[in-house]
Parts: sequence; C-alpha cells; structure tokens
Amino acid sequence: MRVSLSTDSITNTKADLLIVGVRSLRGDRDKTFGAVKKAMGSGFEGVLKAEGFEAKSGQTLKVPGRGRIKADFVLLVGLGSGTPTERAARKLAIRACRAAKRQKSAALVLPESTPEMVRAATDGFVTGVYRYTDYKTGSRRPKGGLKSAALLVDDKKRGDLRDALNAGKIVGESMNLARDLVNGPPNDLNPLTLAETAKAQAKEHGLQCTIWNKAQIKKAGMELFLAVNRGSAIEPRMIHLVHKPRDSKGKVVKADKKVCFVGKGLTFDSGGLCLKPGKSMLDMKCDMAGAAATLGIALAAARLNLPVEVHAVIGSTENMTGAEAYRPGDVFTSLDGKTVEIINTDAEGRLVLADCLAWARELKPDYLIDHATLTGASMVALGPRRASLFCNDDDFAAAYGGAAETADESFWRMPLDEDLRGMLDSHIADLKHTGASWGGSITAALFLREFIGKGTKWCHLDIAGPAFIDRTHGRHPKGGTGFGVATGVSFLEGL
Ligand code: BES
Ligand code: MN
Ligand code: ZN
Repeated sequence: MRVSLSTDSITNTKADLLIVGVRSLRGDRDKTFGAVKKAMGSGFEGVLKAEGFEAKSGQTLKVPGRGRIKADFVLLVGLGSGTPTERAARKLAIRACRAAKRQKSAALVLPESTPEMVRAATDGFVTGVYRYTDYKTGSRRPKGGLKSAALLVDDKKRGDLRDALNAGKIVGESMNLARDLVNGPPNDLNPLTLAETAKAQAKEHGLQCTIWNKAQIKKAGMELFLAVNRGSAIEPRMIHLVHKPRDSKGKVVKADKKVCFVGKGLTFDSGGLCLKPGKSMLDMKCDMAGAAATLGIALAAARLNLPVEVHAVIGSTENMTGAEAYRPGDVFTSLDGKTVEIINTDAEGRLVLADCLAWARELKPDYLIDHATLTGASMVALGPRRASLFCNDDDFAAAYGGAAETADESFWRMPLDEDLRGMLDSHIADLKHTGASWGGSITAALFLREFIGKGTKWCHLDIAGPAFIDRTHGRHPKGGTGFGVATGVSFLEGL
C-alpha cells in the first residue's frame, strides 16, 4: 500500500475512489461536502434522499462520479456533528479499504491538515487493506484491494505532515507484521521460525539481535522456561533485540531512557498434560501474540529512530504433551532462585515470563513492560476487546493509559491485590504458580511480580482478549490484530 500526500482539489483529484467525510448535508456548514455537492450537480440531492443518506455517524454511500468530478466513485461517510478527531480520519481510511471492491486507488479528503490526522489515516490505510493470504493458492488467492491512497492536504511539502505519514506507515506495517505472525499456522510458525523472522527483521532495520538456543537457556538457569518446553519436540528460543538511537551520521548516541519489553511467545498452547478441550485449543496459535507485539514495537522504534534504548526479550516454546512433559506437582527453580510448584500445566505462560522477566530486570531498564495472552480470566473480567493493565507505579500506569488513548487501543487498569498474594503460597516450595479459581488474571500478575526484582517500574499487559478476534471488529480483521504495537510506540514517543 502506497500512501502519499497530495494538494489536488476534491473535484480534480484522479482516483478510483474519493472518500469524503460528511459532517452536515448543508454546504454552508460543511465546506468539503458543499464542494462535492456543487460539482455533482442537480440530481445529487435526490440520490442522497432516495438512499436515505443523512450524514449520521457511520452511514456510508458510494456513488459514481459520472464525469462531474475526476474520481470514478465517491464514498460519502457520515461523521456526525462535532469536531472530527484523528479517530475519524482513521475510520475513513478503513471504510475506504472495505468499500473498494474493484477500485485500486483512493483519495481521502482529510477533515483537517494536521499531523495527527495524516498519521491516523495512513495507519488506517496500511492496516485497513490487510488480509492474511499466505496459505491461499492459485485463483483462490484474493487479488483485490486498494494499492495506493492519496491524502488531500493543504501543503504536501510540510515536514510535520511528511513525518506523520512516515510514522503512520511504520506503525501500520509493524501491526501487520504482528498480525502475520499471530495468523501463521503453528506447524510453520514455531519457536525456530519465529526466531528466524526476528533475526531477519532485526537485520533489515538495524537492531542488534541475539538468539539463545536450548543449551544456552539451560546454561543461564531458566528452569521454569525449560519446564514448559519439556513436552515439545521443538527446541525453545529466547530472542533478544536491541534498538539504540543514532545521530544523522548513523553513529549510536546515548539515550536518556531504557525500556525493556518482554513477550510471551507460545507458538502453540495445548495446555500440556492439563490438556485443553478441542474448542479452546483451536485458537492457541495466537499464544505468541505478546511476542509479536513486542517485536512490532522494537522494530517500529528502530525504524522511527526513537531517542530511547529499546530492548525486546521474547521467550518462545510450545506447550505440548510429549513423554517428557512437565507435570502438576513438579517443582522447578526459577532463574532468580525461587522454587515453584507446578499446579496446572496450562498456566505455562507465567513460567516462561517469570524467567524472561528475571533476566530482563538485569538490564536495569527504566521501564519493564510485558505483553502476554496470559489468562482467560482477563477476558472474563473485561470482555474480549480490552486488555488488562497491571502496574506497580501510578505515574507509569497513567502514562501508559494516555498512550493507549492516543493509539486508540483499550486497556483497563487492574489491581495488584495484596490480599490475593497468599493464594500463591505453596506447602512444599517457595511459590505455587496458580491461585484459586477467582481473580485469575490478578494472581497471574502477582506471580509475575515475584520476578521483577526490587524497584523496577513494571507494567504487565494481559492481551488474551484483543490480540486475536473471531470476527472483524472496528479497525481489525478476524484473527490476529497486532494489538499493543500502537500503544507501545506511542508510549516510547512520549518519553
Ligand atoms: N494461553 C492461555 C490463555 C488464553 C486463553 C489466551 C484464551 C487467549 C485466549 C493460558 O496459557 C492459559 O491457558 N491460562 C489458563 C490459566 C489457568 C490454568 C490458571 C486459563 O486462563 O484458563
Ligand atoms: Mn495455557
Ligand atoms: Zn498460554
């Protein structure tokens, strides 16, 4: 998808599809629509009436340009009254992608020529055309969809608008990469191929990349991580990427802040010996969505050359039922020395994360942030579209919430209830790894907290719901959503 800025007028822009957000049908209240109405000539108002188009929020109408304007078709999208926001700009772009059947090129009239609108419309176009087609063959592979989009602005040479376009493109592409990884079938997307993809992407975008194999993970002492891997025929991998900012000559410069992202990378979660029922297992290729978001954020940070040092640490394995699989009742020693009694082998994510967090904290980051499809309980608490945010620092939580607002992703802060910590006390080891049945996302977070060390500002994002969805919703298609990438980037930009 090519997105560019253009100063063409509404009537002169040549495109297969022109998208116009409409605030009011009265030309004196809505100048853009006024211009369209004038150009389309008599009969146009009759068409609007016949089709019942009243510019209500979300209403759309696609009409042919009939040579009255240069575009072949016009897509009118009701914005409702009120000042249009950057969200409206993104929605217009996504609507355009869905409405374009045979149209290849689009032109979008931005409600305002601001960097925020340009960025949102650009990420909207880039993510709006996304379809996962890797496993469709021959004529079954869809060919349709927009190939290019022009954003109509008042000055296409403005540096701030060009930067915004570039940022929107990078965030959109990073979300799409995360979606691809989540959608990848687990027989092909396994810890080894995930690590290869990370390595190739790191090389392409100039990040340092270290991949740890099983022997190296073992040598480091990550027994909890390895316990989860025991039942799998495929080796685990730990992936570590680093972005360091560079000056205009390409020399690495010192950053004021260091942020470390950690991601759960279960390429398949069968539940282990505590096997999941078939229906719940079906979606479990999505259990590496935290790793995908982590990777997407680090790559975007590097491509944007953000002035922050960014680390991405990913623990990747399958959770399977092989002869050597770990069992309920087993006890393992974590990287930081605490012994852990295994209760339910389906609570595997927190074990992998515990060792990765304990390793990451030694990097001494200013902020430690983990993404994980960790608990069904998070979805029970907040529904399937919102992620749980656990944080041990109020300012940090507020900053992350603000970034989510800007990025248009939904989180909700959840409590790290001290009261529930007792549920993790074990009879025979230092800790049990699951609590009782209630408050499952909270006890999971409390378990992780045991491994972040003293004084680390830490945020745990349980993205089990929004990382993978069963039908198209809002800006996302069915399947992997790339949830978390936009907020992570926005948080880094705000530092
Ligand atoms: N990967 C799952 C959580 C999950 C559920 C992600 C649904 C996405 C959609 C996780 O490993 C898991 O199985 N958690 C258990 C924990 C329980 C055994 C304490 C759960 O939520 O049931
Ligand atoms: Mn599980
Ligand atoms: Zn899992």
